[in-house]
Amino acid sequence: MISVLPELVIVLADLAAAFLLLFGLKRMSSPVTAPSGIAYAGIGMVVAVIASFLYALSVAPEAKPHLLMNAGLAVAALAVGGGLAWRSGSKAPLTAMPQMVALLNGAGGGAAAAIAAMVLLGGVSAPAALVVTLAGALIGSISLSGSIIAWGKLDGLIKRPMRFPGQQIANGLAFILTLLSGGYIAFIVLSGAAPILAMPTLIAVFFGLALIFGVLMTLPIGGADMPVVISVYNAFTGLAVGLEGYSLQNPALMIAGMVVGAAGLMLTLLMAKAMNRSISNILFTNFGVTKTHKQSKIEGELKPTGAGDAAIFMRYAAEVIIVPGYGLAAARGQQKLYEFVKLLQAAGVVVKFAIHPVAGRMPGQMDVLLAEAGVPYDLIFQLEDINPEFETADVALVIGANDVVNPAARTDKSSPIWGMPILDADKAKQVYVIKRGEGKGYAGIVNALFYKDNCNMVYGDAQVVLTQMIEAVRGLSKTAA
Ligand code: TAP
Repeated sequence: MISVLPELVIVLADLAAAFLLLFGLKRMSSPVTAPSGIAYAGIGMVVAVIASFLYALSVAPEAKPHLLMNAGLAVAALAVGGGLAWRSGSKAPLTAMPQMVALLNGAGGGAAAAIAAMVLLGGVSAPAALVVTLAGALIGSISLSGSIIAWGKLDGLIKRPMRFPGQQIANGLAFILTLLSGGYIAFIVLSGAAPILAMPTLIAVFFGLALIFGVLMTLPIGGADMPVVISVYNAFTGLAVGLEGYSLQNPALMIAGMVVGAAGLMLTLLMAKAMNRSISNILFTNFGVTKTHKQSKIEGELKPTGAGDAAIFMRYAAEVIIVPGYGLAAARGQQKLYEFVKLLQAAGVVVKFAIHPVAGRMPGQMDVLLAEAGVPYDLIFQLEDINPEFETADVALVIGANDVVNPAARTDKSSPIWGMPILDADKAKQVYVIKRGEGKGYAGIVNALFYKDNCNMVYGDAQVVLTQMIEAVRGLSKTAA
């Protein structure tokens, strides 16, 4: 009874944790409920971690002398990991989230690989468990080293994609060698044959090769595609954790891992669709907008205008559609933007927000940004829903966005963003673009929209320009009074 009780409590706690993770994930599907969803998932994680300490009550007698030491190590790891995550999580700006997600995801893959290493070193003989553990080890290790390279690229530490002739062949060879070493371990364990190297060395070789493959696979990929790569590795990490959950017979790990894996896969599919890429192109091509592209000649000229003039024009418009992009997040201009929007609404202007699925640098970044400023969710529209409305809108106000409104995606077959669905801001009667200068977007190409007859540029940092716009509209009301 004494040994059954902790196990029962562990199983119940694991199921509660899995339920909380699923419930949290469900709530994350809308920006309105997402903050509480994150809290629920966090509580689920705490429940699972606390429950894992109960395993101490039912360990084998020979493991008992190590209990105190192991519990101490676990507490120390929790303190260091939790402390570091807390510190970086509260300090990192929204624009640095992709890097953080890459690092945390790598840590998840690494944790799955570490579990696999312990299981393999401890000796696993059942064929199914062995194969599952090896698969989790392989996927977790690739996710660990690949995510670290993705973090380096996003953080600007690795500036350029590293490509060399025959790279695909080298990558293919590295993968085959990794599989062969894993297969050899399985053969030795199952057949009982004498290995050519000591088992721990064989296991180290297998992990080393898998880590090298993760690095090789990620190095040639352009920085612009890193968020998609992180999403792929996110799916890998989830799968690895799920497999190791099977290996440990831990339902919380199995369920959480599979949910993360499925969510990562779905996110990858959505991002690929938004960028008009196939999954095989994403995984097996040296993709990236870094490939050399001859810019098509652009007709027209840039026409700067003042923030005040643009603001007053919008104050007298019937409908304004706002397109936020990476620059709005970089400028932290969301509060000022909503202040400006409220002034327009008070003057009877219909204001809507148009969100491109890959605006910014990570999925959902614009939704989070606007939710942070308190923008009601019913003002926010996704690409398919808002695009037909640009034609009848008086103004499209593009703030720190560039690639997601570049008409070259529709017209220029040689463009790196050809085929990517874009927001049809160019079709509005008047377009205002707020940006600091002639800086290019992530794709590194000039935007023909900025040169169109119906487009005026309002140069400056987004937050500064929006403050000027607010002052201009307020000044108008004062004059009228
Ligand atoms: P971008 O095309 O990257 O353009 C951002 C623009 O903001 C720049 O042209 C820059 O021009 C301007 N800017 C920067 N700081 C500013 C500031 N403080 N104030 C005002 N403007 C500022 O952004 P986007 O339209 O959001 O497109 C996102 C890009 O990232 C796409 O190419 C997309 O494919 C790529 N991407 C996104 C994701 C996800 S999931 N979101 C994933 C992978 C790739 P100035 O320098 O002249 O100011």
